[in-house]
Amino acid sequence: MLSAILVAAGSSERMGFDKLFALVSGEPVIAHTIAAFENTTCIDEIILVGRAESLGELRKIINQPTKVKQIVAGGAERSDSVRAGLNHVNPKAEFVAVHDAARPMITPEKITRVFEVARTNGAATLAEPVNDTLKRADVDLVVTGPLDRNGVYAMQTPQVFERKLLEEAYDLVARKKISVTDEVSAVELLGRKILLVPNHDFNFKITYPRDLPLAEFVLKQRGQIV
Ligand code: CTP
Ligand code: MG
Repeated sequence: MLSAILVAAGSSERMGFDKLFALVSGEPVIAHTIAAFENTTCIDEIILVGRAESLGELRKIINQPTKVKQIVAGGAERSDSVRAGLNHVNPKAEFVAVHDAARPMITPEKITRVFEVARTNGAATLAEPVNDTLKRADVDLVVTGPLDRNGVYAMQTPQVFERKLLEEAYDLVARKKISVTDEVSAVELLGRKILLVPNHDFNFKITYPRDLPLAEFVLKQRGQIV
């Protein structure tokens, strides 16, 4: 069994308003994200983690029938929100996929590919090869040296793990009060092998207002929406 935790409890500070309810082609960003997981055959259930004050609004956008089994409140840090979701995953789930609700351009095909790799290896994530030339700079923005982009990848989501592995990783994070920005960073603490699934398609996080028309363009071009 594979459960998906969609984290949607952030404060959208860079956007200036709750970006997950911003409309893309007439539907909230999060509705596009949920639809991708609803349409993925290998996903058995979806746990939505939202802001405490938005849970009612989240309930309203769920269409029936649905794989959404729980809608729960998140926490101050992303890792708190993931842990809140983990606490509500069906006990029968052997695998858990964690996904940023702010990435509505994810597709069932990508979700399935990451799951297939996680099923044989225990841990896998979607990741984007870095294309730009990279440099280090000091606090005054003076270039101090090169950074080899070979073998450098930007972490995306979904990130899929054996459920026990993810729970163990987040227990360690909580016990040692370590700050992590994604699941890969948490599972790395256990010294486990994590495989990357390179993604050459659009899957950027909606972060600034300028991202909204771009997401609409991408989804329309793919025919995911009209
Ligand atoms: N997230 C969450 N709980 C938090 C922080 C983030 O569930 N305490 C979620 C966000 O809702 C988002 C994903 O994690 O779907 C990635 O976070 P990010 O894109 O940084 O969203 P925000 O934190 O909301 O945005 P900002 O950093 O601009 O405030
Ligand atoms: Mg954030």
